[in-house]
Amino acid sequence: MEKKTVSTGIIGAGFAATFHFECLKKVHGTNVEVEGVFSTDTEQAAEYAKKRGIRACESLEELIDKVDVIHVCTPPVAHEPIAVAALEQDKFAIVEKPLTGYFGDGSDDFNGDTFAKADALEHSLASIERMLAAEKKSRGRILYAENWVYAPSIQKEREIIEKTGSQILWIHGEEAHSGSHAATYAYWKFSGGGVMIGKGCHPLTAALYLKRIEGLARDGKPIRPKAVSARTHAITRLENFKDEGHIRCDYHDIDDFSVMHVVFEDGTIADIFASDIILGGVHNRLEVAANNHRSICNINPNTAMQTYNPVEANFKDIYVVEKTGTKQGWSSPSPDEDWFTGYPQETEAFYRTIAYGEPLESNSLLAAEAISTIYSAYVSAEKAGAEVAVKTF
Ligand SMILES: NC(=O)c1ccc[n+]([C@@H]2O[C@H](COP(=O)([O-])OP(=O)(O)OC[C@H]3O[C@@H](n4cnc5c(N)ncnc54)[C@H](O)[C@@H]3O)[C@@H](O)[C@H]2O)c1
Repeated sequence: MEKKTVSTGIIGAGFAATFHFECLKKVHGTNVEVEGVFSTDTEQAAEYAKKRGIRACESLEELIDKVDVIHVCTPPVAHEPIAVAALEQDKFAIVEKPLTGYFGDGSDDFNGDTFAKADALEHSLASIERMLAAEKKSRGRILYAENWVYAPSIQKEREIIEKTGSQILWIHGEEAHSGSHAATYAYWKFSGGGVMIGKGCHPLTAALYLKRIEGLARDGKPIRPKAVSARTHAITRLENFKDEGHIRCDYHDIDDFSVMHVVFEDGTIADIFASDIILGGVHNRLEVAANNHRSICNINPNTAMQTYNPVEANFKDIYVVEKTGTKQGWSSPSPDEDWFTGYPQETEAFYRTIAYGEPLESNSLLAAEAISTIYSAYVSAEKAGAEVAVKTF
């Protein structure tokens, strides 16, 4: 089969835009032509473009016009308008997590601590509806960049579930570390919430995905979430929190600890933890308790490699693992962190969908379900954990 060429544009020039570009270099199923980058921070865009030998475009529209697909690597508040702009031009949109959300009433002093969370649920559901409607009308599609779906350990678990007809009884997932780097992350009005959405979306979406797979494999029908109970906390904003300099603690109006208890329509359950208060490097793990097996998917850390380094300075030029606080003593270096995390596999799969119409694992319905569950969870947390129904699409 002749290899097709996909032309692409990057929106945003920060952290996510950097690893998206690295993954493009590894795509082998199609040729990739990067037309350029657009960011509202023109200086950052110019620097990003120069480093990679691509063009910094002056407007979003100019870049969308030239390409087959855009990578939406902006803060969540901008995901909907940018993705819809691409879909309206019949282009594909790879959208970073979370798909969308509620970012306040537009006022500068909007405070995530005090508004009614039912508003967030209502507005985020409306945003999802707009995105799904735009996708329906378009020849393009939303490709939801949930890398956990493509992480090799999650895909191996999918194989086990499909081939052995497992019934998943309980999923126990967690994403945690010592705090996100992006300055905008501290504000609900840019992030659409705190750690429950920012990190919780990863293990939650993997759990929703595996329950969908289970239902499709056995009965040809996905098993979907029915209700959620949740708690959120702002531990680093407690007056008695003692800052020792290891954990980010400048959050404005967001949660830094959360737990969601999800009940699926078949009565089985998932517990999803997310926090910004964990030292020792990023902790990404999903445990599946099924009726015929039990799996622990260690995305990070894992024991592919373990190293003892007696002198911190010796490792000054060695990347060990995301968010590790020290490289001295025993550590678990990830020999190919992107691979374990699923980034290159995700990019490869998306480009095959765009070029050859191959099936899409992480699609807009999965993304919509995750957003709907999370904002129902915020409503629950406001009621100290009362159960709230989850709308599905
Ligand atoms: N999948 C993952 O593991 C992962 C990891 C990190 C971040 N993310 C996601 O990636 C997205 C970006 O996060 P980041 O860490 O790269 O943030 P960042 O702050 O490092 O970069 C954001 C970039 O977007 C630009 N930008 C902001 N508003 C824009 C707009 N309206 N139009 C065009 N450009 C705009 C900024 O100028 C900046 O260049 C977020 O949705 C985040 O949740 C995903």
